[in-house]
Amino acid sequence: MPQPDHTEARGAETSSTAPEKPVRHPAPPYAVDEMISAKTIAARVEDLARDITRHFHDTEQLVVVGLLRGSFVFIADLVRELRLPVEVDFLEASSYGDAMTSSREVRIIKDLSGEIAGRDVLVVEDIVDTGFTLSHVTQLLRTRSPRRLEICALLDKPSRREVDIRATWTGFEIPDEFVVGYGIDYAQRNRNLPHIGKVRFLG
Ligand code: PRP
Repeated sequence: MPQPDHTEARGAETSSTAPEKPVRHPAPPYAVDEMISAKTIAARVEDLARDITRHFHDTEQLVVVGLLRGSFVFIADLVRELRLPVEVDFLEASSYGDAMTSSREVRIIKDLSGEIAGRDVLVVEDIVDTGFTLSHVTQLLRTRSPRRLEICALLDKPSRREVDIRATWTGFEIPDEFVVGYGIDYAQRNRNLPHIGKVRFLG
């Protein structure tokens, strides 16, 4: 849920004494306006896959790492366009803001199932917002000495960046809008929309 109210939303769901037991608040009423169509996304995924295939043309086997949960739709479409020997793995990280200090903390909830030492790795992310999640995850994976490690992000909100990190390949740069769909949620909803939509709060 990488949104303009990111810190607030995460802070609201996280008690300072028991962050592992979030308190859920109902979302206010909202509508979703289409921002990037399913057709436009599909065309861009083909372009990205072509570039990634070219970059890793000599790979023995590319380990494609999806960051859960938001990347599950993107990674499913992307790997089917890669003309490479591919293996798929997943990692789940959870980041949340500390409302008192506005600092960020990223925890690994589910680590990779396989080894990446000496291997080619592509990290697949749905959206880069502050950059904390991607920065933490890539630093961690680099300590495991992959042969090559590159990043593919579907969406990038450069205006929100707090950490100096950039994906090797980006699908779309977007303004600081609250987006959902194609894997991205608002309060765990709308991940199943086939397009990227912009949230418009009602009332
Ligand atoms: C979202 C998104 C990215 C991250 C980006 O994940 O999927 O992983 O936030 O934000 P950042 O650049 O500010 O770190 P979220 O924690 O909402 O979990 P999800 O993937 O399960 O939706």
